[in-house]
Amino acid sequence: MQERDAQRYLEALMSRRSHRLFDGQTLTENQLSSLGELKAESLGLGHLRTHFVHRPGDLDHVFRGVVGSYGKTLGTSALLAFTAAEDDSWQAGMQCGYIGEQYVLLAESLGLGSCWNGGMFGIKQLMALVPLGPNERVVSLIALGTPQEVQDRVGRLTKMVFKRKEIGEIASGTLLGSGGYITAALEAVRLAPSAVNRQPWYFDTGSEGEVVLTASRRGGLVPVDLGIAMLHFYVAALAQGVRGHWEVTGADRAVFRLLPANH
Ligand SMILES: Cc1cc2nc3c(=O)[nH]c(=O)nc-3n(C[C@H](O)[C@H](O)[C@H](O)COP(=O)(O)O)c2cc1C
Repeated sequence: MQERDAQRYLEALMSRRSHRLFDGQTLTENQLSSLGELKAESLGLGHLRTHFVHRPGDLDHVFRGVVGSYGKTLGTSALLAFTAAEDDSWQAGMQCGYIGEQYVLLAESLGLGSCWNGGMFGIKQLMALVPLGPNERVVSLIALGTPQEVQDRVGRLTKMVFKRKEIGEIASGTLLGSGGYITAALEAVRLAPSAVNRQPWYFDTGSEGEVVLTASRRGGLVPVDLGIAMLHFYVAALAQGVRGHWEVTGADRAVFRLLPANH
């Protein structure tokens, strides 16, 4: 990723929020080609397949939602589906979060709204659009479209029950005190989407300037949430000219290391 892409993503992550009502219109040529040309950066984990479906206004049957309509998006124009081998569990989840969030931020910068969907969809309806291979599963979906400006009851409720965490709740005092690019990178993580707004991430210092991310809870979508947080952290660091990379060291742990200046 270039520094200018990171700048663009950083702006997008500051304005992004989940949208659940779209206008059902066809995406523009520019939106379609930009999304189609994205060469997303990878964590180098697992084997994830990305599928893009453009069916303006004809995707409501896929996003059915359950309890209190959580997961029901209406007027969706396009969806991204991420699939992986059945046995490729948390690796595919992290990879999905890291790659999918690049689509989310690119979409935001193109004037599109988005909503991650971790499982509130009709699998039969989806399979009619995205054929799954044998032993392949859907890791997550992302709904895309031009957002309609309305009150989002589901979004408001979710955030009332699970409030956005303060920076001191997602990072150790030692890390926060280390200065440099860290505060802005953690602020970018704070704004990240997560399943049911659980924000299951905790950042601490490692050895020699490393930053260690661990999961603060367990759950099927936690790896996806961690991948998203890693992407936000990476983008905000790079936008400040700090180039690093994440090394995943386990199902719920990853280490961010700075690259030498001339890398
Ligand atoms: C992996 C993942 C799965 C999600 N699944 C759903 C879902 O099924 N239905 C839904 O309405 N929102 C879903 N969301 C959106 C979250 O509820 C939302 O990101 C969170 O409440 C924070 O709100 P914000 O995105 O507006 O900042 C999901 C988010 C993530 C990251």
